[in-house]
Amino acid sequence: MADERRGEWGSRVGFILAAAGSAVGLGNVWKFPYITGENGGGLFVLIYLVCILAVGLPIMIAEVMLGRMSQRSPVSAFKQLAGDKSLWRGVGWIGVLAGFVILSYYSVVAGWALEYTVFSASGAIEGADPAALTQRFGQVAGNGSGAILWHVAFMAITIAIVIGGVQKGVEIAARVLMPLLLLMFIALLIFASQLEGFGEGASFVFGLHTDNFGPGSVLEALGHSFFTLSVGMGAMLTYGSYLKKDDDIVVASVAITVIDTLVALMACLVLFPITFTYGMEPAAGPSLVFQNIPIALAQLPGSTIWAVTFFLLLVFAALTSAISLLEVTASYFIDELGWSRSVAVPVTGGAIILLGIPSALAASSHTFGAGMEAAIGMNWFDLFDYVSSNWMLPLCGLGISLFAAWRVGEQARRVQFAAGSTLGKIEGLYVAWLQVLRFVVPIAIVLIMLHALKVFELLGLTGAT
Ligand code: PFF
Repeated sequence: MADERRGEWGSRVGFILAAAGSAVGLGNVWKFPYITGENGGGLFVLIYLVCILAVGLPIMIAEVMLGRMSQRSPVSAFKQLAGDKSLWRGVGWIGVLAGFVILSYYSVVAGWALEYTVFSASGAIEGADPAALTQRFGQVAGNGSGAILWHVAFMAITIAIVIGGVQKGVEIAARVLMPLLLLMFIALLIFASQLEGFGEGASFVFGLHTDNFGPGSVLEALGHSFFTLSVGMGAMLTYGSYLKKDDDIVVASVAITVIDTLVALMACLVLFPITFTYGMEPAAGPSLVFQNIPIALAQLPGSTIWAVTFFLLLVFAALTSAISLLEVTASYFIDELGWSRSVAVPVTGGAIILLGIPSALAASSHTFGAGMEAAIGMNWFDLFDYVSSNWMLPLCGLGISLFAAWRVGEQARRVQFAAGSTLGKIEGLYVAWLQVLRFVVPIAIVLIMLHALKVFELLGLTGAT
């Protein structure tokens, strides 16, 4: 029986929607299109899809499974399953730390979306000049104090929801908002398909272009497959801990992955046609969605309503993800240190607000961090994003896969995989998943990391990248 104090999802679909709410966020609509642009398009998309299928999905199944087996949040889960002093706890710690780092800059981007919602509501986008809208993003992100204020506002909303207890709130919010977001994207897709640049945009996303694709792109695709599915930091483990014994983990994980991937591809199919139609730059970086969407919508009748709806949905998508990030960090203090929810959430949320300030200032002319940028070519924002997505999530994901594949008992693993699931009872599928988790996932993660550390280059096995 589930621990009654921890609660359970209200329904099967409630878990899928809440977990999809965590997965679908700024990663799909803001980050995926812009890194696709920077890495040259189609080939990057293909590698990303391979990473999702061969690495992300198997880890998601493992992570949700460990949550249901332990009925705990990440660090306690490893204690419960491996022993109080076990080194496996470190995997949970990396996850909690990743949550802190990710939410600190995630909330800055969500703050920009909040600002754009208010700006759109003022009617200023209607018929606005594309050049002015292009410049506007620089002004918003470059205004340090404004960026901090919107970041604090977004965190305040997240903190308020998580204090109130996440399950009911998240489940209900996700039930309403996820379908709305999908509908909005379908409408935008219809709009984009009529643009002159649709063919060029679609071919950018699906053609196998190799320009701008380098070996570093593979690490980025892998890192993003973790980030976008919310795996490798215990968010799915925590959500999985609220599942019932006979819920179907395999089908739920496949459904979450499919929804997440569809939204990411739709976002690209909306953004790149706009980019090419208006002669913009696909490798524009983090500004992509904030420039392109207003420019395109400004031409439409009723552009104010369209723009407000779009940015509001983006804020909501970010919110359901941010909630899961804060829930993981706060639940560490609740489960491990015995803090009450009403203390743990504001304290961790407050720490995240402070940690986000350097990222909020990154695009401004503020001199904070300028020395670092000159030295390593990354500002705080880029550094936090790079370290968390490309290193912490894959490392924690590696731990999760090794633990689930090698340490968990065969009997318990089989029961979890098959529970309540027709798919999960197919022997071949179980064996394939286990072998992928045992060998393919760890080898892929380690190789990609060794490559990123330039180990192959040092050994003279590959040329400089
Ligand atoms: N998956 C979210 C997105 O794509 O925006 C980001 C995220 C949420 C990452 C929760 C990790 C996480 F635990």
